[in-house]
Amino acid sequence: MTLTRRAGAALRFAIFGTAFVCAAVLPSPVAAETGAEAWLRYSALSPQAAKTYERLPANTVSLGDSLVLKTAQQELLRGASQMLGRTLRVRTLRVKTSSSPENAIVLGKLIELQALFPDLHPPQVLRADGYWLKSTKSHGSECLVVTASTDRGVLYGVFALLSKIARGESLAAIDITAIDEVQQPYAPIRWVNQWDNLDGRIERGYGGPSIFFADGSVRSDLTRAGQYARLLASIGINGCTINNVNAAPQILEDSFIAQVSRIADVFRPWGVQLSLSVDLSSPKVIGSLDTFDPLDPRVAEWWRKKVDEIYRSIPDFGGFVVKADSEGRLGPSTYGRTPADAANVIARALKPHGGVVFYRAFVYNHHLDWRDLKNDRAKAAYDNFHPLDGAFDDNVIIQIKNGPIDFQVREPASPLFAGLRRTNEAIELQVTQEYTGQQRQLCFLVPMWKEVLDFDMHIEDLHIEDMHNGASPTPVKDLVAGRVFHRPTGGFVGVANVGMDANWLGSPLAMANLYGFGRLSWDPNLTAEKIVGEWTRLTFGSDPLVNQTIAAMQLNSWHLYESYTGPLGAGTLTNILGNHYDPGPESSEENGWGQWHRADHIGIGMDRTMATGTGFISQYPPAVQKQYESLANCPDNLLLFFHHVPYTYVLHSGKTVIQHIYDSHYEGADRASDFIAQWKTLEGHLDEERYRDILTRFEYQAGEAVVWRDAICHWIYGLSGIPDDKGRVGNGSRR
Ligand code: GCU
Repeated sequence: MTLTRRAGAALRFAIFGTAFVCAAVLPSPVAAETGAEAWLRYSALSPQAAKTYERLPANTVSLGDSLVLKTAQQELLRGASQMLGRTLRVRTLRVKTSSSPENAIVLGKLIELQALFPDLHPPQVLRADGYWLKSTKSHGSECLVVTASTDRGVLYGVFALLSKIARGESLAAIDITAIDEVQQPYAPIRWVNQWDNLDGRIERGYGGPSIFFADGSVRSDLTRAGQYARLLASIGINGCTINNVNAAPQILEDSFIAQVSRIADVFRPWGVQLSLSVDLSSPKVIGSLDTFDPLDPRVAEWWRKKVDEIYRSIPDFGGFVVKADSEGRLGPSTYGRTPADAANVIARALKPHGGVVFYRAFVYNHHLDWRDLKNDRAKAAYDNFHPLDGAFDDNVIIQIKNGPIDFQVREPASPLFAGLRRTNEAIELQVTQEYTGQQRQLCFLVPMWKEVLDFDMHIEDLHIEDMHNGASPTPVKDLVAGRVFHRPTGGFVGVANVGMDANWLGSPLAMANLYGFGRLSWDPNLTAEKIVGEWTRLTFGSDPLVNQTIAAMQLNSWHLYESYTGPLGAGTLTNILGNHYDPGPESSEENGWGQWHRADHIGIGMDRTMATGTGFISQYPPAVQKQYESLANCPDNLLLFFHHVPYTYVLHSGKTVIQHIYDSHYEGADRASDFIAQWKTLEGHLDEERYRDILTRFEYQAGEAVVWRDAICHWIYGLSGIPDDKGRVGNGSRR
């Protein structure tokens, strides 16, 4: 129901007189710990903890009847029922029939709310998707208001409220008479990409087959897709691209769009917009054209008609993701056109409908001549896109991987973040652990993402430089990488790749990465500690030992994984020609893929300096160049990414490179084995299902760490001939 301002003002607090109790069947509490509920377990609070919330109003009122508001209210009922054992009464807006007003949790957009509570004004402007939790008293009623400028914001507010209850936030924070909290998302775009193929397989997916597709069609049962949208909404994700960036052109066939619209239908109640990855050659492959040249008017017309058709089926369609001229995908270079030409032709078709194009900066030549020491794949994104800064339409977003190579365990921030200031940007982070243990090993990625997001790009220097060049720079306030630089749009994209496995990613602990991605995209200033603390509490309950132990293991896990798979920024030591998982340092070399580490008999590392190397460092602003160009300033953990040094080179730590590599692998394997002992302290403190499952994973990881240790140490010993000071390598001894 929509309430006009006047009618609302007249009703005031007379709204709660007539009630009906919601007839919806509430789900029963989580029975088996399959991981399916992830961080939305809503497990019953202890009677003592539940007492904390006894002043929570017993009624709920929704000021509107949109799909998303209905979802928000259902979620509130579900959470209150499961966690507090309370059935909130659903009230409707009726003329007052009783003289005793009742307390209520009021859900609705600000515009509706102000009609009822004219004196209530948020302390700041509520941007789209932001919400306000506010307790207010009037006419003897205590109300807890969950409001926003959009229905989706109200839904996010409900999830935030339920998260507080689930985490047992202190009475002060949830005190109905005291709560007054505004939360705003940092960026408007907070999307996930799924790399699902139409046959049901997922590229780099480790959690089972697709929840969207099977055997070339959209699944008939989309229950899981709806549940996924709920999970995404609970962490503020507002868009999902459902198919592989290596897109099958068939996705745009008329018959397929009708199928895909069923997925949009199950996303919609959760405010998640559906989008599609598209193949740029589609006008030729599935259209009847003899070209896909973006500057050909027939191609523009084809995209316009196709997009109009999509919006007829999916009115809230989000837009397209484009991977072109990359890893064998066709692109505008076929016709001598630029990425801007390609992006803009599609963007213009989407513009009237409010859709956007994510054009991926992952454009590189994978047939580089490896013999040429000046060649460098890391330079490709900047070289291709920096010259086009300002040439993209305002509904195009350049989607940039966090590092210049490809989701390796350690990379510097991509210099392209500083190289586009008149173009919208989104940072692309990989939730699915392609090169970081494939969910079989623990690797909590939020600390890694934070390092990129917080990296000081010294944009001011560029600003001044540009002014000297006579250009008119965009005013820049953020000095860090991966932020949106106050452009009209942009934000965060996470490659998620959940699948049909009950626990979504194939491992219960890996879900911290999905949760962390959502929380960071909402607020990149959150700390890794805060995020993992929330996630652990929501996923495993309130036992302090469980919380401390799991949070500490998660926080240590990235450095640990790095220590035995790629210390000192050595680049890719995994098998790049196969599974991207096992040790395979030789596979990186002597081919055109450009994931080189340049290890030889004397030394190791890519010389990317301006003085003697590939010159990649010149793509950074001057202050960053200074940091990386000199051996003296370059941090040890990125040394081999930027420099080729002899194995005997002495690090800041005082160790030689070779000894560091040996020690790091042996210490890493020991620490991985120690994870087993740490986990065992939790026996009896959590459910048996997850305890056993995760224990098995740590036992496996300890074995894998030994495999990595031995493979890399033996390989590098064989190359360098330099023995291990501690006599372990080559002696068949573990220590
Ligand atoms: C990696 C990954 C591919 C993927 C590509 C991309 O190279 O291995 O599977 O297609 O990234 O991001 O496009």
